[in-house]
Amino acid sequence: MANKFYITTPLYYINASPHIGHSYTTSAADTLARFYRKAIGKENVWFLTGTDEHGLKIQKAADEAKLSPQEFSDQVVVKFRDLWKDLNISYDDFIRTTEKRHIQTVQKIIDILYKKGDIYESKYEGWYCTPCESFWTGSQAEGGLCPDCKRPVERISETNYFFKLAKYQDWLVGHIKNNPDFVRPQIRRNEVLSFLELNKLEDLCISRPKERLSWGIPIPFNPDYVTYVWFDALINYISAVGVFDDKGKYHSKWWPADVQLIGKDILRQHAIYWPIMLRALEIEPPKTVFAHGWWMIGDSKMSKSRGNVVSPLEMSAKYGIDAYRYFLLRDVPFGMDGNFSEESLIKRINSDLANDLGNLVYRTLTMAEKYYNGKIPEENKTLEKSKPAINIEEKIEHLGMKVAGFLRAEDDFNFGGALEAIWELIGMANKYVEETKPWNLAKENKTEELKNFICLLIKVITAVEQALAPFMPKTSEAIQAQVSSDLIQKGAPLFPRIETEESKARKNK
Ligand code: MSP
Repeated sequence: MANKFYITTPLYYINASPHIGHSYTTSAADTLARFYRKAIGKENVWFLTGTDEHGLKIQKAADEAKLSPQEFSDQVVVKFRDLWKDLNISYDDFIRTTEKRHIQTVQKIIDILYKKGDIYESKYEGWYCTPCESFWTGSQAEGGLCPDCKRPVERISETNYFFKLAKYQDWLVGHIKNNPDFVRPQIRRNEVLSFLELNKLEDLCISRPKERLSWGIPIPFNPDYVTYVWFDALINYISAVGVFDDKGKYHSKWWPADVQLIGKDILRQHAIYWPIMLRALEIEPPKTVFAHGWWMIGDSKMSKSRGNVVSPLEMSAKYGIDAYRYFLLRDVPFGMDGNFSEESLIKRINSDLANDLGNLVYRTLTMAEKYYNGKIPEENKTLEKSKPAINIEEKIEHLGMKVAGFLRAEDDFNFGGALEAIWELIGMANKYVEETKPWNLAKENKTEELKNFICLLIKVITAVEQALAPFMPKTSEAIQAQVSSDLIQKGAPLFPRIETEESKARKNK
């Protein structure tokens, strides 16, 4: 296992309110950060998130709100910070691209690359998509439409600054080929490789004339231009850890990032532009860029205009933060697209959380109260163990390793697999209760068997609570509070069943 762990999320645009997609990446990153804090110590983990505040999108949104872009950003950033607080996100640093530490780093980098000759001035003639802030060649902008957003492009001709992407194309192909974990999952790696094999990269235009867009970081040697928002934003991952501070000491503790989590929509920027920018700066690329899939609503993308945007605040307020997190990480294999619906969230809550986990904790603690007045009995180690008990003990012993095994880049951070492993143990324990029939042990005065039975269930609950902590931190704490040292303090069931129209109708039959 790594001896330090630096994990990042994308910096979210602040022109819209945070939605389920943002909370997905951030909850996944939070789970990994929590997992590594337990595994290698809090001081060795750094979890970065933040907001992307420059560019046309923000300028327009600010205009609409009749605020300056800075005032607008200062207001909306609060929504993101509050959401992360409400969702129990344990980031170590939150960077805004309008902060001085970031602006200075971006300008220094542009200076370095300009002096090196990797940034140059040139006249540009071609097609431009204003909403996407992207340049396209004639063949890319087929039919006069932006290949990304399908809106009409306009013809422009202007002088700009360009970054030499093409110069590093061969290096990048080699790097991806030699480092199977650099771009994950495999499908995204193949996508990037085939793109690079089929296309010759064009140099990246990294400036915008101020008359067209003023809300950006000024190009240090030409005040008539600001920096292209992506070139600015990607740099956050190193500006946040102080790449030029203190002779890079702070930076070298964290960089290269161990995992950069992104959605598949921003793969090109993270798997092509970003490593090349770093290479030009002679800085190591991140170890892994992982692109997860998209949450859809039915078959469509979430969008404001469709009015189908799912609010993470609303969902977590209604169903609980941990249930929401559990659903996001369990329901869809990490890396694939998924469908969000409240029905499937409720299904997961009722079956996995209420029936399986909640029931195991509740019934165990009820028995401990009933038979032992809430004091956990002493295990009788001389008693022979039954086959199911031996199997359960084995599962407990290997659970930590198993979960750790899933949460690696090589395994595509298989949160679902890890949770399934935990649920396998929960399932075995519930079955063990049903088959052992503890009420009979009590009736038959098999006191030693009953003691060991309860002890084993308490061991299961403790192991589950430990393994679950990174995924469901509040639930883990709640279980801990009920099963502290040798005393039971049973609370209300952890996850009450959620009644649906269907279940109500069934009851009333
Ligand atoms: N500002 C850029 C990123 C700059 S990183 C240096 C950006 N921001 S964004 O606000 O549009 O957020 C993009 C990210 O949000 C995606 O990469 C993904 O992590 C997440 N998601 C946004 N919508 C999503 C879904 N519907 N489903 C899953 N995640 C998606 O792009």
